[in-house]
Amino acid sequence: MRQEQLRILLEDMTLKEKIGQLIQLSGDFFKANDISYGPREKLGISQEMVDYTGSVLNVAGAKATKEVQEHQMKVQPHHIPVMFMSDVVYGYKTIYPIPLGMGATWNPQLVKLAFEAAADEASAGGIQVAYAPMLDTVHDARWGRVLESPGEDPQLNSIYAKAMVEGFQDKLAEGKGVVSCIKHFAGYGGVEAGKEYNSVDMSISNLFQNYLPAYKEAIEAGAKMVMTSLTSLNGVPSTADQWLLNDLLRKTWGFNGIIISDYASIYELIKHGFAQDSSDAANKAINASVDIDMKSPCYANNLSKLVTDGKLDEKKIDEATWRILCLKNDLGLFEDPYRGASETREKECLLSTNKRKLARKIAATSLVLLQNKNEVLPLHKNTKIALIGPYGASHDLLGMWAVHGEAKDSVSIEEGLRQYFSNVKVEKGTDINRDRKIFEEMGFFTEKQIKDIISPEAIEKENNRKALSLAQDADVVILAMGENTLEAGEAGAKTNLSLPDNQVQLINQISKLGKQTVLLIISGRPLALHNVIDKVDAVLECWFPGTEGGNAIADVLSGNINPSGRITMSFPFTAAQEPIYYDHLSTGRPLHGSQHVGRFVSKYLDAPATPLYPFGFGLSYGHIDYEQLTLDKNELTRQGQIRAEITLNNTSDWDRYEVVQLYIRDQVATIVQPVKRLISFKKVLVKSHNSCKVDFIIKPEQLAFYDNYGCQILESGKFTLFIGSNSRDCLAQSFTLLD
Ligand code: BGC
Repeated sequence: MRQEQLRILLEDMTLKEKIGQLIQLSGDFFKANDISYGPREKLGISQEMVDYTGSVLNVAGAKATKEVQEHQMKVQPHHIPVMFMSDVVYGYKTIYPIPLGMGATWNPQLVKLAFEAAADEASAGGIQVAYAPMLDTVHDARWGRVLESPGEDPQLNSIYAKAMVEGFQDKLAEGKGVVSCIKHFAGYGGVEAGKEYNSVDMSISNLFQNYLPAYKEAIEAGAKMVMTSLTSLNGVPSTADQWLLNDLLRKTWGFNGIIISDYASIYELIKHGFAQDSSDAANKAINASVDIDMKSPCYANNLSKLVTDGKLDEKKIDEATWRILCLKNDLGLFEDPYRGASETREKECLLSTNKRKLARKIAATSLVLLQNKNEVLPLHKNTKIALIGPYGASHDLLGMWAVHGEAKDSVSIEEGLRQYFSNVKVEKGTDINRDRKIFEEMGFFTEKQIKDIISPEAIEKENNRKALSLAQDADVVILAMGENTLEAGEAGAKTNLSLPDNQVQLINQISKLGKQTVLLIISGRPLALHNVIDKVDAVLECWFPGTEGGNAIADVLSGNINPSGRITMSFPFTAAQEPIYYDHLSTGRPLHGSQHVGRFVSKYLDAPATPLYPFGFGLSYGHIDYEQLTLDKNELTRQGQIRAEITLNNTSDWDRYEVVQLYIRDQVATIVQPVKRLISFKKVLVKSHNSCKVDFIIKPEQLAFYDNYGCQILESGKFTLFIGSNSRDCLAQSFTLLD
């Protein structure tokens, strides 16, 4: 439709019709399938407003979306098509590893392909907007939603942000893409104490330096939509934050796309104590230029009266409606309201061979080998394997936010192993968790389901016994342990990050048998593994690896693929260290290098001050040495650049990928700077018994930081440059940035 026609349409719409465009409701309002994790409640919205609704949440599938579209266009006075939006967080039907696992690939090109493939499937299923990527920087593994983020580093997250948005949107014009709705703006990852939906309070320099860059990069990459956060930032709920949404996002960053609230977050302004009632909440949100009210009655029931009472300028509603109509028009919905949705296409592209191949590749690349004592891995083909643990035969490898994925389509670890090893026997050994309270708190399980999950004492004992006897008879024991799907993801906050007691007990018993033991961890977050790593030889972090998880794990255990994943979130020694992240600020009494010794330094009395595994850490098969870090100069001018070079020496029989990481530290600054900050990396293949040189160019702008007014500044002085295989193990050189 031409712009003039669209303008005419807007002018012809009644106030109520326009407000309808600003409402988003879930499938239950349209008698359609509804897949949603948000709270469900009847909203008290009139049928008229339901008919006028502009977009639909989490209804998916070509058939279902077509039916809803057909009906809505009929009841809509101007026959305006609805938009279908959904959570396609790390795959639609083919599920890729969770974003924290994608982060661990350090391979944005591969991640882009996964998002492109997810968009292809989702668009065939009638989805036009995907609520992803989630770009909240994450520092605290107690928070369940760390699963959805690429990790703790703002620079790396920014690179992924661009890849993910482009992956979704590059093929929009061809009808094979989806609009990317980035979330959650802003700073949700900073929730205090990792407690879900808690408040966020941080300095402006911290916000700009660590939390905003990835969202900004996504906007620059063309993301057309932004979702607000359920939280408050420095005392103001994000959903009504005029500074954040109007001043920063729209004016300073020039974003003219759509802002949508998070699930019921406009209504929740009342609960925050920021609005007195739903009318006040609606007024505050629309004035902060929130265009769409997701699943709350506030806009539907109040905007009209606010305008007629003269409390709200209708212009605000026109602006929001215009943005929504423009997106519908850009998507070509006025010409083809069923855009992309096709049952034939679904048959061709959902879970296709190519998609599965990609899922297997990215899952294998995401696995992180944390320990490999005595080079127990990879396993020989003829190894007699005892596969023990609740995840051994399980298909539950998708993780909480795979809302359209189905466990039945996934490859279990057992199935994956059987493709490489002829002698695999399986025992569950123990339940996923035997703490009934945690299942009750998760809110999704009926009493009957809890009873099915937690075996009676006698059966648990028998399962333990069978596992021990199987282990006794094997060459190698593979323990497939971890968290339940619903222990991670939204509302999956925990204070205990260790494996459940029953799993630890079984690991202890098996370790006494003196067998070679490999521990596979299925989890949505870094767990605190210090109490189990000494009981096993190898540890492989598998995340929730997705549809092809079992195959990918077998690819790595068999040595068919050399693991190359590196963690993008620090793994704590204990949950009590959280939040723990590598780029923390320098302190006056650092653990090392303080004039104080012994007691009066920054540390804990009862646990190490550092994580168990640092950011960027991961092993591969074989061995590489980092040697000879050189800089081409020691002084950098404002217009100049420095070239840093390092030699990697592969002394092993394995070809291996190495993630070469470059960090800097600003020694003296007007705002205290992090002990290290990633500014670049390269993932390179180093052939066996070969060495290669890797170089980086460092430019002054990479050394800038944000002050407490949100301005970027560049200060001259001394810097240390580090290159290494992770944020802890690095070689260092110094240089000076001149005035
Ligand atoms: C989550 C969002 C999600 C939305 C729609 C909310 O509960 O916070 O991330 O996109 O629900 O499902």
